[in-house]
Amino acid sequence: MSRKDQIKSAYRFTGGHASLYDGMMTYSTLPGKAICRLVWNMDGEKNLRYLEQALSGVPENFSGSMLEVPVGTGVLTMPVYHDLPKAEITCLDYSPDMMAAARSRAELAGIKNITFRQGDVGNLPFEDEQFDIVLSLNGFHAFPDKDAAYRETFRVLKKGGTFCGCFYIRGGCKRTDWFIQNLYVPKGFFTPPFETEQSLRERLIKMYTEVNVTAVEGIGCFVCRK
Ligand SMILES: C[S@@+](CC[C@H](N)C(=O)[O-])C[C@H]1O[C@@H](n2cnc3c(N)ncnc32)[C@H](O)[C@@H]1O
Repeated sequence: MSRKDQIKSAYRFTGGHASLYDGMMTYSTLPGKAICRLVWNMDGEKNLRYLEQALSGVPENFSGSMLEVPVGTGVLTMPVYHDLPKAEITCLDYSPDMMAAARSRAELAGIKNITFRQGDVGNLPFEDEQFDIVLSLNGFHAFPDKDAAYRETFRVLKKGGTFCGCFYIRGGCKRTDWFIQNLYVPKGFFTPPFETEQSLRERLIKMYTEVNVTAVEGIGCFVCRK
């Protein structure tokens, strides 16, 4: 299955019984689509585009070791992992509730080559240079200690390994910035400070040997080589 089809199958995965969160992440339910359009100025095509960019660091036939942090409910990545039977996949999240949803999704999809661990991205329970890929989708805007998160994701990545993913960036869409500042931050969904596309690029260039940063509206996507 192509990467595009995997992402689209995540949309189908949620079906009619998706939570508001899953429906929003996958642009698949009426309330989810409304939030994507209103808050993020994203339609289905833009949603697909940012996910493709964020996941482009994971080769379609990948067979090494990878860490996903935070996995959340796994709604975006389980369809991808379903087609990576030779990879050694570790998923970590702070919230046992979010991860319970990811775990049952993995079981439902028959994914066997996956391990789940509860933990903090700022203090990862892994050896130095353990993973070939570290994937982080929509996490850094939520992490409270962002310096520790950048430091730890770098530490556990092998030399030559790939760090890729996406998260909210300031300045990509004025409307999104307003919602984040007036709703998401006060409610505790997101934690400042936030990167801009430029500050993210500059930060990653200081750490990684190859850096590619792109943006779709208020979402910054990155693929870096250590
Ligand atoms: C917006 S969700 C993103 C989840 C998933 N990657 C996705 O795109 O659907 C943010 C996740 O970050 C997790 N999180 C927040 N702080 C964390 C931390 N310090 N360490 C690990 N996970 C954390 C939350 O539990 C939540 O599941």
